[in-house]
Formats: sequence, C-alpha cells, structure tokens
Amino acid sequence: MLIISSIFLLLILIIDFFLLSHFISALISTHYGDPYVSLPSSAVKIMIDFIPHQPQQIADLGCGDGRLLFAAISKFPQAQASGYEIAPWPYLKAQLKRFVFPYRQQIKFYRQNFFSVPLNDFDLLLLYLTSSLLKKLAPKLEKELPPRARIITARYPIPQWKAEKVFSPLPGFNFYLYEIKKSNLALKQ
Ligand SMILES: C[S@@+](CC[C@H](N)C(=O)[O-])C[C@H]1O[C@@H](n2cnc3c(N)ncnc32)[C@H](O)[C@@H]1O
Repeated sequence: MLIISSIFLLLILIIDFFLLSHFISALISTHYGDPYVSLPSSAVKIMIDFIPHQPQQIADLGCGDGRLLFAAISKFPQAQASGYEIAPWPYLKAQLKRFVFPYRQQIKFYRQNFFSVPLNDFDLLLLYLTSSLLKKLAPKLEKELPPRARIITARYPIPQWKAEKVFSPLPGFNFYLYEIKKSNLALKQ
C-alpha cells in the first residue's frame, strides 16, 4: 500500500512539474512577445524547401523546440545553426532533441532574449513570429544583418517590408522571403 501511495505521489509531482514549467514558459514567452506555438511539421518542410541558397550561418529567433533548425541542418549539414529561445520549457526540449540529433555539433541553442543577440554573422534567419513582434525586430534586422542575408518568415509578413517572394502552399499559411540589400532602404515599400 505504501509503495502504491509513493508511486501515485511521485506521478502527481511529475505532472505538477510539467504543468508548472508549461505555465511559467507560457508567461515568459508572452511577456517577451509571442506565445510558444510550434510550426506544424508539414509547414516546416515547406519552409526549408523554400530556402533559396546554400546557407552558412542560420538562426531561428524564438526557436521553440528547434524543429526548424533540425530540419535546416538535416538538409544543409555543412551549415551552422543557432537557436535563441527565452522560455525554459521549449529550450529544454530543444536541448534534449539536440542530444540525439546526428549533426548536433552543427546546432547550438541559447536561452536568451534575441533582441540582445548580434546578428552580423547570419546569412539566413528562419522566423515564426507574429507581425507585431516582427515590426519591433525589423530595425535590428536592417541594422545588423549583412547584405544578401535572407529572412524567411512563416505565416506573418514583416510589416512595411516588401517581400522578394510570397509562397502560399497551404490555405491561410504564407511564407515570405526577404533579402537584405546593400542599401537596406530598398527593402521598404
Ligand atoms: C511562435 S513560437 C515559434 C517557435 C519555433 N520557431 C517554431 O517554428 O516552431 C515563438 C517563440 O519565440 C519565443 N520568443 C518570443 N520572444 C522572444 C525573445 N525576445 N527572445 C527569445 N525568444 C522569444 C517564444 O517563447 C516562442 O517559443
């Protein structure tokens, strides 16, 4: 009887731990901008196939469980990928998945606010963020990304930027491709 009660108590503690960490993660994500919503796997594949060049340095700002970067490195294993995630729960999931990923040396995850990350070395950003957060991020992208860097956003466009290409493979789910020009002003509509 004592053993059964102990197992039961342990189960309750584990469930509480997961619920609490989900709740704390949701609070942190929302405080910093966007909630943690994963891109559906079908959309991940489409987004990776939409990459127009051979990337060298890839970043996902707000990487969640890292699914975009795992898919990107599986297709471009010579590239390096960096994922930045503020919420502890998806960050933990990303690190656990990295542990069993064959090209794990190519990917690094950081629990960090992406507004404090220098972007100068990246030639490809993969973003699944809402337009209001993309609007706040746009000046940083303009200032720091090198010429010819590409940005692909899922579902939401960068407000007031003109996309090079818009791809609409799924109903209500567009992908937007942007390229940083020499003069970043050329990006503006
Ligand atoms: C819509 S989810 C996208 C997750 C992942 N990129 C995907 O496609 O599955 C946005 C993520 O951005 C994270 N986030 C929001 N603001 C952030 C910030 N300032 N710094 C780091 N991560 C942030 C949230 O915690 C959330 O996990």
